[in-house]
Amino acid sequence: MSNATGPHSIRGDMRVLRHLLFHPVRGETHEERLESFYSGQARDYDSFRARLLHGRRQLIAKIDFPPDGVWVDMGAGTGENVLLAGKRAESLREIHLVDLSSSLLAIASERLEDAGINIARIHLADATRYDAAAASVDLVTFSYSLTMIPDWFEAIAVAERILKPGGMIAVTDFYVSRKFSPEEYRQHRWLSRAFWTHWFAADNVFLSGDHPAFLHRRFDVEVFEERSGKVPYLPLMRAPYYVLIGYKGEKRC
Ligand SMILES: C[S@@+](CC[C@H](N)C(=O)[O-])C[C@H]1O[C@@H](n2cnc3c(N)ncnc32)[C@H](O)[C@@H]1O
Repeated sequence: MSNATGPHSIRGDMRVLRHLLFHPVRGETHEERLESFYSGQARDYDSFRARLLHGRRQLIAKIDFPPDGVWVDMGAGTGENVLLAGKRAESLREIHLVDLSSSLLAIASERLEDAGINIARIHLADATRYDAAAASVDLVTFSYSLTMIPDWFEAIAVAERILKPGGMIAVTDFYVSRKFSPEEYRQHRWLSRAFWTHWFAADNVFLSGDHPAFLHRRFDVEVFEERSGKVPYLPLMRAPYYVLIGYKGEKRC
């Protein structure tokens, strides 16, 4: 399997930034809005996001890919997670990349082909309606996708339904803490909560403390790390994100 994202170019970054800052997101449906957002930046997506979506590498490094298992990556984008998994995912039986953006999936398709990965199938589908048999999947991942899925709770319900008992859910995403977070979790200050919430919402990325709270409620959580990471061209800023690994019921040995 090939390497994940390579070096970045300033011109590519400028195209992405122009898109993020000035291109109005249009469309009647969620799918149309995603295409409006991604189609102009799909080619440059990977190099820019490699310096923003720090949790992906950390998440994938923590996953034990079950031999002969089935992995569903929800909101898979350009397939970066599969490339990050590399040889460790070769023992899987099936990999399914689910996403509603055809332009990002087109890049994923090229990258998987270049890497010679032939156990992966691509689905242009809504994660909240993804139709796999109940209890048929060993691993479901969401990396930076829950914040972009309006009915994120439904996407989690789908994950819970399709996972086998003891199957793993692995999630990383931006978030902000609740105003009063439980003692054992980080408490973000008002300015940080307000800034990141509004900054990301401009691109229809909706941060919430409810995502990790709901995941804790629905799954047996083994790993929950709260971190913050650099943002390209905002040198003093660190965006908060989390890495979570949990199981449906008791973990399978
Ligand atoms: C920030 S990108 C992350 C992509 C990839 N997981 C990564 O880590 O690079 C969010 C992804 O979620 C996808 N997405 C948003 N809403 C979705 C939905 N309802 N169903 C499936 N995918 C969705 C977007 O098209 C996009 O590819």
